[in-house]
Amino acid sequence: MDREKGITILAIESSCDETAAAVVKNGREILSSVISSQIELHKIYGGVVPEIASRKHIEKINQVIEEALRQADVTLDDIDAVGVTYGPGLVGALLVGVAEAKAISYARKIPLVGVHHIEGHISANFIEHRELEPPFPCLVVSGGHTHLVIMEDYGKYRILGRTRDDAAGEAFDKVARAIGLGYPGGPKIDRVAREGNADAIVFPRAHVADAPYDFSFSGLKSAVLNYLNGCRMKGETFSQADVAASFQKAVVDVLVEHAMMAAEEYGFDKMAIAGGVAANSFLRTQMERACAKRGITFYYPSPILCTDNAAMIGAAAYYEFQNGTRSGLDLNAVPNLKLGER
Ligand code: KG4
Ligand code: ZN
Repeated sequence: MDREKGITILAIESSCDETAAAVVKNGREILSSVISSQIELHKIYGGVVPEIASRKHIEKINQVIEEALRQADVTLDDIDAVGVTYGPGLVGALLVGVAEAKAISYARKIPLVGVHHIEGHISANFIEHRELEPPFPCLVVSGGHTHLVIMEDYGKYRILGRTRDDAAGEAFDKVARAIGLGYPGGPKIDRVAREGNADAIVFPRAHVADAPYDFSFSGLKSAVLNYLNGCRMKGETFSQADVAASFQKAVVDVLVEHAMMAAEEYGFDKMAIAGGVAANSFLRTQMERACAKRGITFYYPSPILCTDNAAMIGAAAYYEFQNGTRSGLDLNAVPNLKLGER
């Protein structure tokens, strides 16, 4: 490989239930991206079991990294920096990636760059949209996070709003379980909702009185559970598709409304989405429509770059590396790491 051509980063992600490694050039070009998903393993428990996730990461991480290097047709000699997610996430899961990255960095004397998982999700947008540069607002919706942020510059974020309780993806997963769809719920609700009537049941759109950009999804989740209980008590059956579609619309309405409010208040003509829930087809079409109406350019990653992957960590690591960020061999996993903190 021609090393003159820029910065090549080996990125590692193990914050939840995906063991992933990628080789990314200059922050925007994926040379390889390998994801080993543990979904099948956790399915029978209805959610991610942290202890099992950590053990599986240990089993998989070396082969996932080797495969990423092989697919990219590079060796560790070609790598300029190792980027790794060090938070937020499950501590035991994060530690596997962090320990691995530190070992490679130490053994091969390659600089180490700790990356914030959410910064990774947002940076997924840079991979397929070469023209996208900060500042822009981004709606980050995943299984663990719901944030509306302005990416002011690379590595610089202003948080406008966040969830007060459940994350959007968590609400999808819980409602999916309640209507018998199983884990992981988001993609299943997405699929089933296409057959349903989104106006069949009116579920609440929660707003937080003193914080217009904050979100709250626990009331919506309770409203769905109450509706299901009501049906059962009356001996009535419910339509899985109608509940899925009506719930999904209630979530998406609030997400789109908040995102548009931010774009208008702060005068942006571009907007991005990120995180696992950004793969949701209804959210994507509603955002597209709302942005088009206002002349806003809408950016979103391919579904495979929305859910957890290491390519997004490689993109974020590149800009951190260019900003001079270097992590020491004392880098630790920080399960509740805040965005913008180091
Ligand atoms: O970003 P991610 O892979 O992991 C976290 O950082 O949390 O997000 C996973 C979440 C899960 O809650 C999953 O149900 C949700 O993203 N998700 C979806 C879709 N695909 C994944 N939610 C709604 N619609 C989808 N198509
Ligand atoms: Zn994630």
